[in-house]
Amino acid sequence: MNTSKFTKCLYYILPGLLIIFFAYTCFSSQEGVISRIKKATLKVDKTKQVDTAIPIPKNAVKANVQYQGGTFYTISRKSEMKRYKCSSCHNNKKVLIQNAADISHADIKVVHGDKDSPLACNTCHNQDNRDFLTTSKGSKIDFDHVYDMCGQCHFRQKKDWIGGAHGKRVTYWAGERVVENCTSCHDPHSPRFKKRWPATYSVPLN
Ligand code: HEC
Ligand code: HEC
Ligand code: HEC
Ligand code: HEC
Repeated sequence: MNTSKFTKCLYYILPGLLIIFFAYTCFSSQEGVISRIKKATLKVDKTKQVDTAIPIPKNAVKANVQYQGGTFYTISRKSEMKRYKCSSCHNNKKVLIQNAADISHADIKVVHGDKDSPLACNTCHNQDNRDFLTTSKGSKIDFDHVYDMCGQCHFRQKKDWIGGAHGKRVTYWAGERVVENCTSCHDPHSPRFKKRWPATYSVPLN
């Protein structure tokens, strides 16, 4: 056998040997890996599982509108209002004190709308039944559905709120969608947030 024949021989034999070697190591170790994984995997303990979807909060109400994912909920406002029900005072008994509104609602200053002529109380509050808000046409709106009242003027923000681009979700992504109501964040009488600086700032580089 001369050298050229010997090298030709190697060309055929070596790859074959390598394939056999790799195949052997693969298969022999695969069995080991699988059984090791099986041993390391714990059985699912159903008693230790938690629900990813948190239940709908008690103070949530179903919204009058639907979003792209169907029905959703928003946070009730009536339970948060100190002076609800309004009809406990706003009934058919006459108020005999002068400037009674100033006394009972002195804390309310309307800074909303035009700077020189702010919105009137009755633009938002139903004049005949104080327990309700009002549409511009005089129909009653429940305080829990305040978004319908704000949305008459701020229709773009209402649309964004329905879609989820404005406002905030209360629950996690899983389960029913529950979002904050307009007045969870905005004071209707003074809805603009105060400008403020960040609490901390970056130290200048030099
Ligand atoms: C503790 C009693 C009391 C409660 C509770 C109360 N009000 Fe009044 N409110 C008054 C009195 C008194 C006046 C002045 C007389 C009037 O206009 O009837 C007044 C006046 C008003 C006015 C007219 C203000 C003006 O300047 O003309 C509005 C609007 C109003 N109330 C809204 C409400 C709403 C909305 C609620 C419930 C969220 C409420 N009030 C709850 C006592 C009360
Ligand atoms: C832009 C609309 C708007 C205007 C204008 C407005 N209100 Fe209101 N008011 C609301 C809404 C909405 C609420 C409910 C707030 C909430 O959800 O917490 C409210 C709540 C109240 C409450 C109950 C507050 C509480 O926590 O119990 C009183 C009282 C009240 N308004 C009186 C007045 C009076 C008096 C005026 C006029 C001087 C006035 N409002 C003007 C929209 C308005
Ligand atoms: C009758 C129409 C009307 C209604 C109803 C109304 N607003 Fe307004 N709102 C205005 C006007 C007008 C302005 C002043 C716009 C401006 O200065 O550019 C304003 C201003 C605002 C601003 C400040 C905007 C800014 O550029 O900083 C916010 C926030 C706001 N409203 C929220 C609300 C909320 C929340 C409600 C419902 C509780 C509501 N508005 C109901 C007419 C309305
Ligand atoms: C989770 C809190 C939150 C909720 C809920 C919310 N807003 Fe706002 N809103 C904000 C913040 C924050 C801004 C930005 C204020 C700023 O830039 O100073 C804002 C801005 C606004 C403005 C000023 C214009 C703009 O788009 O920046 C309007 C008008 C407004 N909101 C109306 C509404 C109405 C109407 C609803 C209900 C349909 C609503 N908001 C619900 C937090 C909220």
